[in-house]
Amino acid sequence: MTGITVLKIGGSIITDRSSHIPKALPDQINRIAEEIAGSYDNLILVHGAGSFGHIFAKQFRLTERFDTRGLIKTHCSVKKLNNMMINALSSAGVPGVPVHPFGNCLLENGRINEMFTSHIKVMLDQELVPVLHGDVVMDTVKGIDILSGDQIISYIADKLGADKIGVGSNTEGVLDDLGITIPAITPDTFDKIRMYITGSSNTDVTGGMLGKVQELVELADTVNIESWIFNAATPGNIRKFLEGISIGTHIRTDT
Ligand SMILES: Nc1ncnc2c1ncn2[C@@H]1O[C@H](COP(=O)(O)OP(=O)(O)O)[C@@H](O)[C@H]1O
Ligand SMILES: [Mg+2]
Repeated sequence: MTGITVLKIGGSIITDRSSHIPKALPDQINRIAEEIAGSYDNLILVHGAGSFGHIFAKQFRLTERFDTRGLIKTHCSVKKLNNMMINALSSAGVPGVPVHPFGNCLLENGRINEMFTSHIKVMLDQELVPVLHGDVVMDTVKGIDILSGDQIISYIADKLGADKIGVGSNTEGVLDDLGITIPAITPDTFDKIRMYITGSSNTDVTGGMLGKVQELVELADTVNIESWIFNAATPGNIRKFLEGISIGTHIRTDT
């Protein structure tokens, strides 16, 4: 059995982030499911919430205050997107199963405090593909907060001892000031590169590219798990990553 791979698909790829109502991109979802069908051994999938989450999170200001209606609306909305992903995977022959963070996770001031993952290990043993997603989650300090797919991948990769992480977003990788893909980032070089990286150009409550890179550099530094950030909108890239081909920006330790 190969080591665990964690793959995150950005909400910007599977939804229309410029829409003012939740809007899925079924062609992208189906294409991604077919690429995953090529190799999904020991794979944990995480997808962003995209317009299914960010619109309501912003409307109800869920990162600032508790709001019952906003909480329920957001969770139900992201579950719909998750269901589309599960259905597309199923049609492509991939046994994807839903794992909703709202039900198995607790935050403390926006950061994961506890997350039940024992069932995820059993799912992998049974050759299933757990599919998690960005979600609204109970928070011991704030009542509720938004948990990004980006935070889920680093937590779960660390806890389950993943081999590698892939982050499929909507740029070729992490770009420098000239728009050129930075081939590698290490904890040592991150400080110099940091000034080129900001949040998202879309409505985003979770940190955009900087949020991703921060999570992944820390993971490389602390537990030596490497990751790749690449463009998941380019057909074939997800397949390449799953087959072990290095694409986009490689985040790794200095050694
Ligand atoms: N240096 C950078 N390189 C690439 N993307 C960047 C950079 N700085 C900011 N970004 C923004 O981050 C976005 C990716 O984050 P985000 O929109 O949250 O995508 P996702 O849906 O994959 O989480 C890019 O589309 C871009 O607008
Ligand atoms: Mg994002």
